[in-house]
Amino acid sequence: MKTQKMEKIINLLSIFALAIFFFNLSLHAQKDYCIECHQELEDELLAPVETFKMDIHQQFGLSCADCHGGNPSEEDIDLAKDKTFKGIPQRSQIPEFCASCHSNSSYIRRFNPSLRVDQLDLYWTSEHGHLLKKGDTKVALCTDCHATHGIQAAAHPKSWTFPWNIPETCSRCHSDKDYMKDYKISTSQLDDYKESVHAHALFEKKDLSAPVCNDCHGNHGASPPEVTSIAFVCRQCHPSAGELFSQSPHKKAFDEMGLYECEVCHGNHKILPPSDEMLGTGEKAVCTQCHEPDSEPYQIASRIKEKLDEFIQKIQIAENLLERADRQGVEVSEPKFRLIEANTMLVMVRNLTHSFSLPEIEEKVADGEKVVAEVTRAGEDALREAKFRKTGLIIATCFIFLLSIALFLKIKQITRRAPYESP
Ligand code: HEC
Ligand code: HEC
Ligand code: HEC
Ligand code: HEC
Ligand code: HEC
Ligand code: HEC
Ligand code: HEC
Ligand code: HEC
Ligand code: HEC
Repeated sequence: MKTQKMEKIINLLSIFALAIFFFNLSLHAQKDYCIECHQELEDELLAPVETFKMDIHQQFGLSCADCHGGNPSEEDIDLAKDKTFKGIPQRSQIPEFCASCHSNSSYIRRFNPSLRVDQLDLYWTSEHGHLLKKGDTKVALCTDCHATHGIQAAAHPKSWTFPWNIPETCSRCHSDKDYMKDYKISTSQLDDYKESVHAHALFEKKDLSAPVCNDCHGNHGASPPEVTSIAFVCRQCHPSAGELFSQSPHKKAFDEMGLYECEVCHGNHKILPPSDEMLGTGEKAVCTQCHEPDSEPYQIASRIKEKLDEFIQKIQIAENLLERADRQGVEVSEPKFRLIEANTMLVMVRNLTHSFSLPEIEEKVADGEKVVAEVTRAGEDALREAKFRKTGLIIATCFIFLLSIALFLKIKQITRRAPYESP
């Protein structure tokens, strides 16, 4: 009996002791003294702990010592900063510091098999990388585009590399006149970009497919696009304009002159909404930059614009007709629908301007004008019907009026006769 009771107590005690032991162990294992101690410090010694709470590396279970080295399980500063402690890297060493993990595919694969490991290789091909190799540490390093401690996943909406944060990320340097004063490049990219159709699509329409800085310049290989790659850059998103341009006489001519194909007429950062005025020989026309009056291309430019204007005018006339018919209560939804088709053709004609081919444009305009002619006819018919209904109404009203007069006279006649007839 007694021994049984003793056994029970001993059992309980040993379980209790074991629990305390494991509790202590886990407490010890969880303690990261880099964080524990830095939490109590101030300013730039404390800041990393604060921002690290939302860092992607923290979410994957990494900590201070994974980047800085040292022994996180030591409470004492001297023991914590043993000979594995790397301290802070110099600016010029940061790419290799980050790449010690990010270029190590077998290491990265353990965390995320689909994450790319080519950032450093690409970085060395960029203008930033070229200049860093020459000892210029003012260029963008990994930490300038991703932050140092509050690094977020690239796809996180709050990350410095998320599309709508990118313009600010790049412009912290590129728009800073003072910072960039030693370089021969402009500092207007952000101001120009902000006025562009692309910025408008991204920020006003929330269209994430519109390009920001890195879509045209690359993420890690940020360089000014080469003559041939600019075409490629714009074409990725505007394939039909690119295809037509390639087949046009300008392709060869521009290549020979070393001109950037899309940029010549549209610019690079300040790409404004294109208008019909860019065509032809008017004040805002881009064609007259290169084509002299009397030359054949000048004449062609002028004809293309005329054709386009005629087509637009015809669409407008048809539109007005339908509106008038609509107001007079005639059903015109069918021709209205056809007019949408004509407007789609107008969009195609505008796109076709990149062929710079008068015959091709004339052909498309002719197709469009056939549709517009049908719509115009339908509009005229509708107005005729409205007119017919109106005259019909007038005749009917007159008829009813005459009928009521006749009726009135008849009644009068009957009532006048009545007294003599009544007994
Ligand atoms: C007991 C407190 C304490 C612990 C533990 C501690 N640090 Fe520090 N740390 C400091 C103080 C104080 C400084 C500033 C003075 C100095 O440079 O020694 C500092 C400076 C640093 C710096 C600035 C660079 C440098 O070398 O001056 C880094 C980076 C750093 N600590 C990382 C770590 C990491 C990583 C760990 C864990 C392996 C760690 N610390 C553990 C107190 C601590
Ligand atoms: C992803 C790697 C990485 C991790 C994780 C990391 N650091 Fe750093 N830390 C750096 C780099 C890189 C720098 C140098 C930044 C620079 O010079 O721009 C730095 C700088 C510092 C500095 C100097 C700050 C200054 O402004 O002078 C301190 C202190 C520091 N880290 C502490 C910590 C602490 C504490 C932790 C954990 C909470 C931590 N770091 C986690 C990469 C890291
Ligand atoms: C100790 C190894 C290590 C070091 C050093 C390191 N990283 Fe990481 N990094 C990782 C791991 C692991 C991940 C998580 C993988 C993932 O995000 O799927 C990661 C994730 C990232 C991501 C998010 C990728 C994404 O979109 O998912 C970025 C950005 C990043 N690191 C940048 C840096 C920068 C900048 C430095 C240098 C200051 C750096 N890293 C240093 C290991 C490291
Ligand atoms: C000029 C700015 C810039 C620099 C410098 C830069 N990055 Fe990036 N990085 C980006 C952008 C922008 C993205 C986001 C790409 C996207 O949206 O898909 C990115 C994405 C990443 C990713 C996610 C995976 C990927 O490749 O898309 C990792 C990891 C990363 N960078 C690490 C690094 C490392 C390591 C360095 C330094 C060798 C570095 N970056 C330097 C701008 C930069
Ligand atoms: C830390 C500051 C800094 C940041 C952030 C930065 N850059 Fe740069 N960048 C520079 C400096 C400095 C140069 C060198 C200027 C030169 O080429 O003469 C440069 C050069 C360039 C060039 C080459 C210009 C040329 O014609 O020589 C391009 C393109 C470029 N950066 C794009 C970007 C993009 C895109 C981003 C954002 C994803 C970015 N930069 C972020 C500092 C920065
Ligand atoms: C629609 C594509 C596109 C976008 C978006 C874009 N760029 Fe450019 N960028 C270009 C082209 C094209 C050039 C011209 C290259 C040349 O003329 O050598 C250029 C040139 C540059 C240059 C070289 C100096 C200069 O101004 O000619 C820098 C620096 C630069 N861009 C930075 C940026 C920054 C920062 C952003 C974001 C605010 C940005 N770019 C957005 C296409 C783009
Ligand atoms: C990443 C994709 C992307 C790239 C790269 C790109 N664009 Fe765009 N572009 C768009 C989007 C999206 C719109 C907005 C469409 C809209 O909302 O009407 C647009 C609009 C335009 C428009 C106005 C079209 C219209 O009908 O109003 C022009 C012109 C244009 N881009 C020219 C260029 C040129 C030139 C380049 C190269 C220097 C370029 N784009 C690079 C996606 C791109
Ligand atoms: C020789 C001048 C010129 C060149 C080069 C040029 N464009 Fe255009 N682009 C125009 C004109 C003119 C318009 C306006 C047409 C209109 O609205 O009547 C236009 C309109 C556009 C539009 C809006 C209409 C549409 O096509 O949907 C886009 C997008 C566009 N261009 C993209 C490009 C791209 C991409 C390139 C390079 C492959 C390029 N452009 C090269 C002159 C040019
Ligand atoms: C940057 C200069 C430049 C601009 C801008 C430009 N062109 Fe051209 N264009 C040329 C060159 C160079 C040729 C080839 C030599 C030639 O035939 O004159 C050419 C050829 C042509 C041709 C072919 C002529 C033929 O006989 O085969 C036509 C058509 C044409 N351009 C129309 C236009 C139109 C329309 C615009 C405006 C939307 C325009 N161009 C804008 C430089 C330009």
